[in-house]
Amino acid sequence: MTADELVFFVNGKKVVEKNADPETTLLAYLRRKLGLSGTKLGCGEGGCGACTVMLSKYDRLQNKIIHFSANACLAPICSLHHVAVTTVEGIGSTKSRLHPVQERIAKSHGSQCGFCTPGMVMSMYTLLRNQSEPTVEEIENSFQGNLCRCTGYRPILQGFRTFARDGGCCGGNADNSNCCMNQKKDDTVTQSPCLFNPEEFMPLDPTQEPIFPPELLRLKDAPQKQLRFEGERVTWIQASTLKELLDLKAQHPEAKLVVGNTEIGIEMKFKKMLFPVIVSPAWIPELNLVEHGPEGISFGAACTLDSVEKTLKDAVAKLPAHQTEVFRGVLEQMRWFAGKQVKSVASIGGNIITASPISDLNPVFMASGAKLTIVSRGTRRTVPMDHTFFPGYRKTLLGPEEILLSIEIPYSREGEFFSAFKQASRRDDDIAKVTCGMRVLFQPGTTQVKELALCFGGMADRTISAFKTTRKQLSNFWNEKLLHEVCAGLAEELYLPHDAPGGMVDFRRTLTLSFFFKFYLTVLHKLGKDHPEDKCGKLDPTFASATFLFQKDPPANVQLFQEVPKGQSEEDTVGRPLPHLASAMQASGEAVYCDDIPRYENELSLRLVTSTLAHAKIKSIDISEAQKVPGFVCFISADDIPGSNTTGLGNDETIFAKDKVTCVGHIIGAVVTDTPEHAQRAAQGVKITYEELPAIISIEDAIKNNSFWGRELKIEKGDLKKGFSEADNVVSGEVYIGGQDHFYLETQCTIAVPKGEAGEMELFVSTQNTNKTQSFVANMLGVPANRIVVRVKRMGGGFGGKETRSTLVSTAVALAAYKTGCPVRCMLDRDEDMLITGGRHPFLGRYKVGFMKTGRIVALEVEHYSNAGNSVDLSRGVMERALLHMDNCYKIPNIRGIGRLCKTNLSSNTAFRGFGGPQGMLIAEHWMSEVAVTCGLPAEEVRRKNMYKEGDLTYFDQKLEGFTVPRCWDECLASSQFHARKSEVDKFNKENCWKKRGLCIIPTKFGISFLTPFLNQAGALIHVYTDGSVLLTHGGTEMGQGLHTKMVQVSCLWTVEACQTILKRLEPFKRKNPSGSWEDWVTAAYQDAVSLSATGFYKTPNVGYSFETNSGKPFHYFTYGVACSEVEIDCLTGDHKVRCLQNFSTKGGKEEKQLNYNTNQRQTLVGKIMPYIPAWETFFKGPESKNFRLLGPRRHCLNAIFAARNSQDLWKQVMPMPGEGLERLSRVVRGQVSRAGLFPASFQAPLWVAWCPWWKQYLSLGNGEAVCPRCPSALQVEGAFVQGLGLFTLEELHYSPEGNLLTRGPSTYKIPAFGNIPTEFRVSLLRDSPNKKAIYASKAVGEPPLFLAASIFFAIKDAIRAARAQHADNNTKALFQLDSPATPEKIRNACVDKFTTLSVTDVPGNYKPWSRRV
Ligand SMILES: Cc1cc2nc3c(=O)[nH]c(=O)nc-3n(C[C@H](O)[C@H](O)[C@H](O)COP(=O)(O)OP(=O)(O)OC[C@H]3O[C@@H](n4cnc5c(N)ncnc54)[C@H](O)[C@@H]3O)c2cc1C
Ligand code: FES
Ligand code: FES
Repeated sequence: MTADELVFFVNGKKVVEKNADPETTLLAYLRRKLGLSGTKLGCGEGGCGACTVMLSKYDRLQNKIIHFSANACLAPICSLHHVAVTTVEGIGSTKSRLHPVQERIAKSHGSQCGFCTPGMVMSMYTLLRNQSEPTVEEIENSFQGNLCRCTGYRPILQGFRTFARDGGCCGGNADNSNCCMNQKKDDTVTQSPCLFNPEEFMPLDPTQEPIFPPELLRLKDAPQKQLRFEGERVTWIQASTLKELLDLKAQHPEAKLVVGNTEIGIEMKFKKMLFPVIVSPAWIPELNLVEHGPEGISFGAACTLDSVEKTLKDAVAKLPAHQTEVFRGVLEQMRWFAGKQVKSVASIGGNIITASPISDLNPVFMASGAKLTIVSRGTRRTVPMDHTFFPGYRKTLLGPEEILLSIEIPYSREGEFFSAFKQASRRDDDIAKVTCGMRVLFQPGTTQVKELALCFGGMADRTISAFKTTRKQLSNFWNEKLLHEVCAGLAEELYLPHDAPGGMVDFRRTLTLSFFFKFYLTVLHKLGKDHPEDKCGKLDPTFASATFLFQKDPPANVQLFQEVPKGQSEEDTVGRPLPHLASAMQASGEAVYCDDIPRYENELSLRLVTSTLAHAKIKSIDISEAQKVPGFVCFISADDIPGSNTTGLGNDETIFAKDKVTCVGHIIGAVVTDTPEHAQRAAQGVKITYEELPAIISIEDAIKNNSFWGRELKIEKGDLKKGFSEADNVVSGEVYIGGQDHFYLETQCTIAVPKGEAGEMELFVSTQNTNKTQSFVANMLGVPANRIVVRVKRMGGGFGGKETRSTLVSTAVALAAYKTGCPVRCMLDRDEDMLITGGRHPFLGRYKVGFMKTGRIVALEVEHYSNAGNSVDLSRGVMERALLHMDNCYKIPNIRGIGRLCKTNLSSNTAFRGFGGPQGMLIAEHWMSEVAVTCGLPAEEVRRKNMYKEGDLTYFDQKLEGFTVPRCWDECLASSQFHARKSEVDKFNKENCWKKRGLCIIPTKFGISFLTPFLNQAGALIHVYTDGSVLLTHGGTEMGQGLHTKMVQVSCLWTVEACQTILKRLEPFKRKNPSGSWEDWVTAAYQDAVSLSATGFYKTPNVGYSFETNSGKPFHYFTYGVACSEVEIDCLTGDHKVRCLQNFSTKGGKEEKQLNYNTNQRQTLVGKIMPYIPAWETFFKGPESKNFRLLGPRRHCLNAIFAARNSQDLWKQVMPMPGEGLERLSRVVRGQVSRAGLFPASFQAPLWVAWCPWWKQYLSLGNGEAVCPRCPSALQVEGAFVQGLGLFTLEELHYSPEGNLLTRGPSTYKIPAFGNIPTEFRVSLLRDSPNKKAIYASKAVGEPPLFLAASIFFAIKDAIRAARAQHADNNTKALFQLDSPATPEKIRNACVDKFTTLSVTDVPGNYKPWSRRV
């Protein structure tokens, strides 16, 4: 049978695909076939939103065009027949005109690395196409499926809120004291809460949007016919009628029905399942019908979740409350169900028939008594969705030929109550740990139970009903007795073995009881006082808050930026909030990342083959199955390496494992094929046999087996023995801090292009470390380093994860290119990336602290253990930094710190923002809080008492100069109204039994520079060409921190030095021809044979520390900060959030952040945003452009340069006017760097590699903020803080007991999302505290603020303590261990009460848990 043509539109252009392959996703098609690389691949599983596009189609039932967002990574192209696709390129461009959405995210600093930006833009754009004046809530909801790892989300929201009808900025004109423009100002130093001026934004004009393709509109009434698309392995049949569908199902009973592909897509991609026949029912009217019947609303099985949600919301608004109890339960589940992109395409039938044991809807439908209509050719039946519907794991009652036609969700009746609950690790877009629907129907007019249904997901291999328990309660009254009996019944009936998949056994069991308790209270609350008191319990007022549903409050975050001083010249960009130079291109999808580089004609794809065992001998490798995959070229392994297979910073790694593997994910070889899809299939075909060896997985294993890298590191001062003997009290204990995945949005990627001559090769790599990339490849190929050119345009995030571990991929890809002689590309899938590349080191701290009754610390001993993994990599440096931060901000007279790097069979852990500092300081704050509790003193008092003073010596003998922590502390206490707030917290805790609040203020002191002296150097090379243009070459890498922006601001000492050299050489020519132009002087210098190439070099003076001798000065200076957080926890579920400052007394359940950040007063400043975008758009299009030079080159110089990026002619016009000194040249440099931002060739990596090998390290290990002044670095404060929030409260890596990483993507590993950011997040910078040791008196802010998120961790601990005290004889002095991260599981388990007591079961002696701590 011949295949049909697939017809769809992309950005208004018709696409006709004659060979549509059902396995091809829209994302792959856009990027590879159409060359539209603006849509990004972040995860491939619908979890990050980087691939968001807008789909539009004519809806025949609604009789209108509909627009919705979708994940291109999950959408099969075959599902797009007669659909219009809009990508980020389709709505605006820097070459023509940016769309207002693109402009606003760029100007509001909502784009750092920019990899998430196109997805953000398309989510917002789609919302505006449906609702041109959305509410703030609608805006926030539209981002539930989008992740960003850099910005901390606030700037994105702040920019997009300007579209909101209820939350946009009024421009400061209205008499609105809350407006961002009307914040308090100060005479001396002006602080501004807003980085942009909304008045400058282009207005949104909905009439200007692209129209729906007329050709598709004309087809709206045309009859639809069955279509068939044939791929390499899969056939897709689009049925057009129900009859056709049932016939097809009868012919192909094994066929899968695909609607949204959100389940099948995952199974095909990640579970490697193959479905040879796919039938799409999406067009069939009966499957899309919504009918309001006498007993409920019936939804066709192909109705999208979004449309179901909308229908139910309408029903709730119209119908009497007693009829919509069930609907409200469904809507409550929908609130926390995936992102918009998934809900817009996923079907209700797909969710039911997938039969996932953690489906959110199935327990609700089961408890509600929903009815399902099932049909096949010639049969039709309607069945209740009860406990028999799911007979086993992912099984339903449907026969092979049957399909689900519809589901009827019932109206509730008088006397019927319904609730739904879900607890996940993260609120937004996360799958449940336990999810449930609960329903009770009372005998009319009584509180006597007639029907009771309690249905759960997450408690078995299917959705279950606790009917043994509920059956016993029929005819009983709704009172305490019933409560106790049901809880006891559930504890018995919902048993989970200790090795249950998903782990968290005690937590899940406890949740079932907690949920019922909430339901019990909610019903009690609703029943009110109408019922006889002897039959129905009364709601204790202190229990009332337990019944409140989790509410999100719109974040009202404020960052106070210091404005530039009055009188600073307009063209002086230093201190001004210059947006990231590439932000406009990032927002329009034009910014080129590694995998966006167009494919070479003869390019091949590589896929790594990795170990599935943690420790084993390799017995054999069989590639025969792989060779059968079409397009297979070769398999490469250690045997193919011409040079050395030894690699790694410590020369302790192999490029390919030869005889032995030492971790799951250890690279053994790689397949090379024609396409990435074939490469994936071929890699699966490689069969490896092993002889398993005993593995060491955890820190505890390593300690037991004495398995360490190198000798112990030690630092000490004073007399510990004496200190402990003098102490009034000694406390010892331990605390564990889990690891963290970098989760940069762009995974590791390399393209290697062999040059065919003398071993030359050019590599395009997403790396922070061009130097090691080059040397490792050269070493592997056995060629001199000068043959290997490494280019880095930009990265979609790095955070340390691309510091050394990127070489794992680049070296393998280089070998493949060498062997095949063709360009080879590899971009890791998210699951591979997480498995292979390691992350932040887990730490175990064992401490003993001696202190006086007053809380003064007199002695401290801490043993630090890190899980380094299977190679040493940067682990020593990480441990050294932990040891040098073990005091945090406290003076301890007698101290000893020991550090050991555990050698384990895990993927090697590596650099991550903070580099061991956060782990060292968390341990410090842990024992500090224990000291306060033991002394019975407020923790803030004990912290303050032990704080260093100006001029004090640290235990590594570095004098503290400009020690501003006490000032930060006092300001933070004052501005957060700490003491008043504390009384409020105490009052709240007395009044609320099941919700508790905690408050904590935490300081930080973070050392800047590297302990190894040679790492603290940097250089630049500047060429001035004969036409006057300038090329700046430097070794830094752009990963989102805005390095190029800073270069443009000439804010690096080495750049300044190079500029000065050149200016000095030009002086004689300027003197000779004072009225000449820049070009004249340059030409004259050239003709006089004066070199206009110069290098700049900077070395941080006098730094370096030796752990061997415990001597030296480890840090150039310190950055300080203080944060205060107030949190509220739900003791029954483990949920937590940070309260909002403004709404403190009126609204419950919000989060507050008060954060004072000390850095120099001019470091983070905001004046007016440089209005370059409107300026160049309007100015250069008009006739005035000809007279540009006369109109004021100073004022508009930067604008002009931006404009010139797009026009070579204009570029000539905008060469700066003659002027004085450095500023003049710096402007030229700015322009050229802007150009460099556009044209990759401008960066000459090989040049700097030749003479400046370590500079890049300086910037990147410091996460790019090492010396960058005065651009809006405070944005990095928020980004770092939110990453810290993830580290300490959310992100949890799970490993199997065998060392297999179980959390390998956004569905299981949760980084902070929009919903996690503090409701109020105030960041301000300490005034008048300049730093003499860096350019423009700046300070590094990329890494230090991360630790301040520990204030949330300890506020949570505070709240838990309040909960425990209530249930354990009011003993507020009892110590307990809370390990990091403080997830809902840990919080709930720590809030011990009658429910936890009922749920905890004895742990069997020899069971194997699902996951273990490493
Ligand atoms: C990022 C992401 C987040 C998610 N979050 C959640 C969440 O929070 N809670 C939750 O419960 N789920 C969640 N899911 C799961 C997803 O929502 C459901 O799997 C979805 O409803 C499936 O619908 P679909 O149309 O995409 O199914 P498809 O993938 O198209 O099909 C799924 C299965 O249903 C079968 N099927 C579909 N329609 C019929 C029919 N009419 N008759 C018979 N069989 C049929 C198919 O054969 C297939 O086996 C998430 C998924 C993703 C990707
Ligand atoms: S790439 Fe599609 S959602 Fe992440
Ligand atoms: S800017 Fe969002 S991921 Fe980098």
